[in-house]
Amino acid sequence: MRNLFNIVSAIAVSLIALAAESHAAAPNAVSTLEKLRAYGKITLCADRDLLPHSSSKMDPPGFDVEVAQEVAKRLELGIDYKWVAAFKGYRAIRNLYSNDCDIFMGLPNDEEFLEEARRLDVTDAYYTGGFAVLLSKDAPSFDLEDYKTKGVAVDIMTVPDFRLHERGFERKLYYGVEKVIEAMKAGEVQAGLVPALEAGWAAHTKTDLGLRVLDRTEKQYIYPMGFGLRKSEQDLKAAINDVLRNLEESGRLSELRRKYGVVELLPEDGTPPKVANQPVETKVAEAKPDTDSEKTALEADFPSDAKSLDEGRKLYKQACYKCHGPKGVSGGTRPDVRKFKGDHYDMFAVVQAGRLDYGMPAFAEYLTEDEIKQIVVYIKQLPPPEDDYKKH
Ligand code: HEC
Repeated sequence: MRNLFNIVSAIAVSLIALAAESHAAAPNAVSTLEKLRAYGKITLCADRDLLPHSSSKMDPPGFDVEVAQEVAKRLELGIDYKWVAAFKGYRAIRNLYSNDCDIFMGLPNDEEFLEEARRLDVTDAYYTGGFAVLLSKDAPSFDLEDYKTKGVAVDIMTVPDFRLHERGFERKLYYGVEKVIEAMKAGEVQAGLVPALEAGWAAHTKTDLGLRVLDRTEKQYIYPMGFGLRKSEQDLKAAINDVLRNLEESGRLSELRRKYGVVELLPEDGTPPKVANQPVETKVAEAKPDTDSEKTALEADFPSDAKSLDEGRKLYKQACYKCHGPKGVSGGTRPDVRKFKGDHYDMFAVVQAGRLDYGMPAFAEYLTEDEIKQIVVYIKQLPPPEDDYKKH
């Protein structure tokens, strides 16, 4: 553990440094990777509040952010987060051109896009995105044609909006998937053709609505999505591609896809479409073996033996106590860490990256990953808040 005594001033200094200049590597560097390693971090631009992609609150961090964290870890780099709030594509291009960030995720590895964004390049895909068929609970058919006259919900001014018009479909126009889902809930519409990642997330999180996302869609709606970066930084692209292949083989990418309900789209080929999001019933049926293997995986990542716990307790006292109180019993001005809603991994991410805008420091520079894990294990086993009252 480095400099914990001086943590407050060190954080202040690093914040000033962050504000004063961008640490993103300059283009045409001899080796981007060497430069990044010398600095120790890669700068990720991501939307501040756009789940399932990313969220600066880190609760959960978002699919893009978690994939970036895995990649950075394997490149032996930390991450500087630069949160932006704007329409993804255009903002991404600007931030990469101006060297404000090294990577921006979720850009299509697609000829048309690359032609337009001349100085940008996109890595291999970490998921297959695009536009998916979303059906309400009571939608009677898996064939979009059956909704041709009744109307299909689309995001206004997106590819499906134009394409369905061309095919003579009645369209119902909405701003964003959220609005489409509200309309489904209200019984206004039964079928939609909407961004797949958002649709998968909605089906995954709003399980009570019984939404279904189909795995098949027109080929032209499918986009392999990769990391956007500067074209001049081919060594970084090659390194990320290597790591992505690795993450795919190890199953870690599919694990993250499952966590965020990411739907993997396949082109229509005459096979009947299937529901791609996990229906709730099968999840419940398979719950037993799943939790067992999850438990062992968790124990491997976050060992909870007596020694780790003791280390965690000591580190908590040095680094967290001041703000979060003894044994997590916050005085009320700071969140009660015992009530944190995410899992071990989510808490790890919050402690590592902080919530700088809200007064929670980032500990990535001051604590090693193992130390943060020990603290997380310690916090997670603290007695729940109800016990405060029982004592009295
Ligand atoms: C300088 C004060 C300060 C220190 C030191 C600090 N925190 Fe925090 N922490 C905060 C504040 C403020 C928030 C609320 C951030 C927000 O509103 O999103 C927070 C939020 C959190 C959260 C999220 C809680 C939730 O329910 O959303 C966790 C987890 C957390 N801190 C853990 C830690 C751990 C572990 C440490 C020690 C390694 C630590 N904090 C050190 C101030 C601090």
